[in-house]
Amino acid sequence: MTERLSYIFNEIPPCEVFADIACDHGYIAGAMLRSGKCRRAVVSDISAKSLKKAEDLLSDYINDGRAQSFVSDGFDNVPQVDVALVAGIGGRLTMDILERAKAADKLPETLVLQPMKHVDKVRFFAVGIGYKIVKDFTVKSDGQFYDIIVLKKGKDSLSREEAEFGRTNLTEKPLAFREKMRFEIDKVLKYLESETMTYKTRASMLKKIERLKKHV
Ligand SMILES: C[S@@+](CC[C@H](N)C(=O)[O-])C[C@H]1O[C@@H](n2cnc3c(N)ncnc32)[C@H](O)[C@@H]1O
Repeated sequence: MTERLSYIFNEIPPCEVFADIACDHGYIAGAMLRSGKCRRAVVSDISAKSLKKAEDLLSDYINDGRAQSFVSDGFDNVPQVDVALVAGIGGRLTMDILERAKAADKLPETLVLQPMKHVDKVRFFAVGIGYKIVKDFTVKSDGQFYDIIVLKKGKDSLSREEAEFGRTNLTEKPLAFREKMRFEIDKVLKYLESETMTYKTRASMLKKIERLKKHV
């Protein structure tokens, strides 16, 4: 497992039935079953070819009935589970998947998300469909930053700053988050140096730097 997947695995709570939505390789479901963190696991992917990797990895568990696999767009063909992971896909796709799961009344009690983009929007969206944030923080793996959001059903409300940066990042300032802030500041500075832009755009970039600086 990559470092990113290990970070995700550590955040998944013990449960009866775990689902890895958009699983591809199925490593997390394998680790959940091996470690005894779940009794049963469901792996699903929209691509039969991707899912086959997970099916091969979990073949012993599938044979003894502890794992099931489904070709599925999001939760569409997946039975009700206690805890689900949706990781490594775009934020918009993550929200589409969750929206359909809500309409089908299939949202699990606990969700672990690791969207690749539009994380601020995903945070607002998840709270809007009835989740509260348990933990929301940045990790670094192979030189890349990733956000992991752990959610449980319940009421919550997010400030703009929490949506932009992640609540746990703001309260605990983990090292990966501070590094990410420095990285983002450098990116904006380089952009300011290299591009010609309107006064308004420049002012908004400078404002962004001030916002980011608060968290270094
Ligand atoms: C980059 S892999 C991520 C695998 C794994 N979740 C991880 O974090 O390492 C993305 C996977 O999402 C699957 N996928 C894309 N759209 C999907 C959808 N609407 N429903 C289910 N799976 C989807 C792809 O087939 C692919 O296997």
